[in-house]
Amino acid sequence: MRVTTVVAARPNFVKMAPIVRALSDRDGVDVRVVHTGQHYDTALSGSFLDQLGMPAPDENLEVGSGSHAEQTARVMIGIERSLSVHPTDALVVAGDVNSTMAAALAAAKLGVPIVHVESGLRSRDWSMPEEINRVVTDRVSDLLLCTSEDAVENLVKEGIAGPGVVLVGNTMIDSLWRLIDVARASSPLASLGLQPRAYLLVTLHRPALVDDPRSLGAVLEALDRLASELPVVFPIHPRTRARLEQLPARADHLQLLAPVTYLEFLALQASARLVVTDSGGVQEETSALGVPCLTYRTSTERPITLELGTNRLVGTDPARLLSACQEELATERQFSPAPIPLWDGHAGERAATAIHRAFGAVRRPVDAS
Ligand code: UD1
Ligand code: UDP
Repeated sequence: MRVTTVVAARPNFVKMAPIVRALSDRDGVDVRVVHTGQHYDTALSGSFLDQLGMPAPDENLEVGSGSHAEQTARVMIGIERSLSVHPTDALVVAGDVNSTMAAALAAAKLGVPIVHVESGLRSRDWSMPEEINRVVTDRVSDLLLCTSEDAVENLVKEGIAGPGVVLVGNTMIDSLWRLIDVARASSPLASLGLQPRAYLLVTLHRPALVDDPRSLGAVLEALDRLASELPVVFPIHPRTRARLEQLPARADHLQLLAPVTYLEFLALQASARLVVTDSGGVQEETSALGVPCLTYRTSTERPITLELGTNRLVGTDPARLLSACQEELATERQFSPAPIPLWDGHAGERAATAIHRAFGAVRRPVDAS
């Protein structure tokens, strides 16, 4: 069986690595890795491949940055060419970035079976590009692999059900459990002058927040006020960095860092007193680690982290964020890690089994004309 996996951006590597490993371990499965090049800086791409032990991609489409249409179009053209030269029995995409949807659309038009990892998540917020990417990808996918029961239910409500929908668990959490001890052993805490459970960790990169100077400025002011109570560490995504450079300095007390590596970020999350984020993956990782998390958004596509994890949705009012942080710091919420079903470190193997069962016996011709 020939399987093509597509990776593109920081969270994709974390989600796809366990599937690439589990498929490659199977006899008779030939795995090809195509990197679209959506993320290209070492800090967002190469360092992840290395730390996750992924093979070097067989091909890099080098699509780079651009508007949504530009990026989507470049990925579609690149994937169509790639699949025409390298026929495959299934194309595996993960998550909700532009490359996920673009690769799925190109494959769908070629009649190539599509596997969507992390299918069925819904924020119901159509202003998020990721929501569009999720819904479109799910609509054209043949095998929909879900991280949690609520995702399966979302698909059922959209009329997508049957043997093509499989609850496999969370491959992002497979990567976490595989590498958390390595991450702790090489923890950056000492070099950053931090004590365990005595700092706040922040990540913010959603366009709705950081592309609006007033919103970004206001949240920075709130975080800066907290920094007089305890250290606030903020590894900054390049999108956010670019916007910050256009703002007057308002964050004198924050520890602003370049994006840190996956292992460094796992270690920083594991020992944080509290995490503030608008990231999807970070809501899940903090839940698995049992570390309190405040999500600075009005919706989440990951309600399981609110129900069984450590996540609280606080909206996007900076004053509310400040008071929620102060409440958290004043009380000791106790969490026992990893109570979420199938977030057990074996989702990649279950995904590989589902892919093998679904497509192990078929061969489809590809004609791009
Ligand atoms: C993308 C995803 C988002 C995901 C995030 C993970 C879409 C629509 N968005 O957002 O869902 O949460 O990745 O981190 O797919 N840049 C660099 N170096 C890079 C890549 C990007 O400096 O290696 C800068 C460029 O200025 C670029 C900007 O970051 O314009 C945004 O990059 P892009 O990939 O378009 O979106 P992200 O904000 O990273
Ligand atoms: N991450 C990282 N370094 C950082 C910030 C995040 O390694 O400085 C990791 C984090 O542990 C998780 C993934 O990046 O595995 C989440 O990616 P991101 O927040 O960019 O995207 P999202 O999950 O929101 O799509």
